[in-house]
Amino acid sequence: MMIAKTPSDLRHYLGTIKQERIALVPTMGCLHAGHISLIRKAKRLADIVVVSIYVNPLQFGENEDFGQYPRVFEDDAAICKAEGVDCIFHPHNLYTDDGAKITLQVHNLDKPLCGASRMGHFDGVVTVVNILFNVVQPNIAVFGEKDWQQLAIIHRMVSDLHMPIEIVGSEIIREDDGLAMSSRNRYLNKQERALAPKLYNTLQSMQSFASQTHHIENILQHGLAQLEPHPIAVEYLDIRDERSLQSVRRMDENIQPRIFIAAKIGNTRLLDNAPLFPKI
Ligand code: PAF
Repeated sequence: MMIAKTPSDLRHYLGTIKQERIALVPTMGCLHAGHISLIRKAKRLADIVVVSIYVNPLQFGENEDFGQYPRVFEDDAAICKAEGVDCIFHPHNLYTDDGAKITLQVHNLDKPLCGASRMGHFDGVVTVVNILFNVVQPNIAVFGEKDWQQLAIIHRMVSDLHMPIEIVGSEIIREDDGLAMSSRNRYLNKQERALAPKLYNTLQSMQSFASQTHHIENILQHGLAQLEPHPIAVEYLDIRDERSLQSVRRMDENIQPRIFIAAKIGNTRLLDNAPLFPKI
């Protein structure tokens, strides 16, 4: 397995394997079973799999956890090796020393959900993903569906900017009790961890409630009532269209409604999402 630390190392390596179908799995490291499922999907879809590991400063706000974000490169490299990854791209810094002077900007799609409290976050994400796409020039890139808003924005970036890259979403991998896997789950203490599956339980309860009524406000109230007795600070619980991320207030056959939740348990911010009407 090749470990490339600079764009030129990576280009040099990729130059030796011309003509093959390349899949990129962009990550910030601290790899878990969710990432492993992205890597396995990438391996099924391409000949060469590149995993990028880069904690992107541009997507963290001033009061966010950029400094504390877990960096465990040795463990990550062992996982990649065991999974048969061809190359890890692990740059020290992807921006010029005097800072990023040219960036991309998301319009509207970054206003709701996570974008509402994380100003500039998605601009940072699309900027770094664009750099990674330019360096790796993959045929395919695989992203987790847990960060659904990110995935929807990247789909739109590729389409608006005519990038010849197929974006593949990979389904959320959950712990046995339903908690969506995330690198941030390791911040939870024992009591918080015990509470964390309530987020997914709430989404499931809303799905079953939606089989009795299509009244969106009632479904949302039902969800909030599930969380209310617990020390869980809900940032948002919303039902939006999967692609446009527009708020759904009435059911309509052109809409693919999805439930989105972000909540803090202690100091840890957790995300989850699920289709309002799961496919049976
Ligand atoms: O989902 C992530 O881990 C990051 O947002 C990504 C896509 C690797 C960009 O830094």
